[in-house]
Amino acid sequence: MLTLSMQNLARVGQRALAAGAAPLSSSSAPAAAAAPLVPGEPAQPVVRTDIPGPNSRAYLQQLSRITPCQTVQVFVDYDKSVGNYQVDADGNVLLDAFTQISSLPLGYSHPDLLDTLVRPQNLRAFVNRPSLGVFPGADWGQRLQTSLMTVMPAGMTSVTTMSCGSCSNENAFKAIYFWYRTKQRGSATDIPHEDLESCMWNKPPGSPNYALLSFEGAFHGRTMASLAVTHSKPIHKLDIPSMDWPIAPFPRYQYPLGDFVQENKREDDRCIARVEELMHEYQRKGVPVVGVVVEPIQSEGGDHHGSNEFFVRLQATAKKNGAALLLDEVQTGGGPTGKMWCYEHFGLPDAPD
Ligand SMILES: Cc1ncc(COP(=O)(O)O)c(C=O)c1O
Repeated sequence: MLTLSMQNLARVGQRALAAGAAPLSSSSAPAAAAAPLVPGEPAQPVVRTDIPGPNSRAYLQQLSRITPCQTVQVFVDYDKSVGNYQVDADGNVLLDAFTQISSLPLGYSHPDLLDTLVRPQNLRAFVNRPSLGVFPGADWGQRLQTSLMTVMPAGMTSVTTMSCGSCSNENAFKAIYFWYRTKQRGSATDIPHEDLESCMWNKPPGSPNYALLSFEGAFHGRTMASLAVTHSKPIHKLDIPSMDWPIAPFPRYQYPLGDFVQENKREDDRCIARVEELMHEYQRKGVPVVGVVVEPIQSEGGDHHGSNEFFVRLQATAKKNGAALLLDEVQTGGGPTGKMWCYEHFGLPDAPD
């Protein structure tokens, strides 16, 4: 199972460019690297006022009367922001080296994206907000075939579309629970009355005591279950009730890797041993670990990588204990690591669940 947000699919373009691939609006001119990302992109930053400037400060006063604004940095003029440059409400032209919060890989106001949004059939899809599970548009299957299905990893055959990373994960968690419970019951349709009754009171057996195993430093989103498997910063979690689910260490290697081969192998051993130990511990408590949730590269919580061997062993450990492996590719999917899906670097014997 893989999760990816739609925004991130667009990353393929920007990161491929950064890696030296031909630009999307390809000309083979050797000076392509110096060309603007999109027409009209400023040539350089220009700072005209303090930041935040007087306009940003005034907008902040206005907005903070009606909504919490503690995290607001500056107000942005999205009509003027182009390519890699953000123009703020005071006319400061700022080089955005972070693509918003890593969510704008093709830059501001990319003409191809603007063009896609104004096409009548896309406008109608947005305006009518189809309930895809009940009344999908007649062309929905065809649209999926010609988009997401063309980048399907080997061994995976179906797709569920969601609107954000957190809800993609939440939905994947539910798929894991359904899969596990169906295995236990031996039937997807023969549901005991007791299960139907008890789930309405959040009690087992209808609401079973299952756990997802996640990793120290992980980030999987801020909705309830996604937050329960997130462990990057207290600010995301403080004051929010959560689940008592197992949290294993994610490798912290010593660099350069070539100088610390043995130490890093021991680090893999330590992390995998802890995963195994936690799975047994929770099994004994009557709370089986039904899924292992992991980022191929810990992104939001730092820049932490696991070796190919770590991921191969993690998959084997999950399988041995009857748990599904969920790879959260919300940051890494869509091409930024040089493959469409980061996990394709790992040489896993099987596709993720
Ligand atoms: C690995 C990972 N998973 C999930 C999410 C949550 O995505 P969203 O903010 O779209 O809900 C993020 C967001 O940064 C992420 O980095």
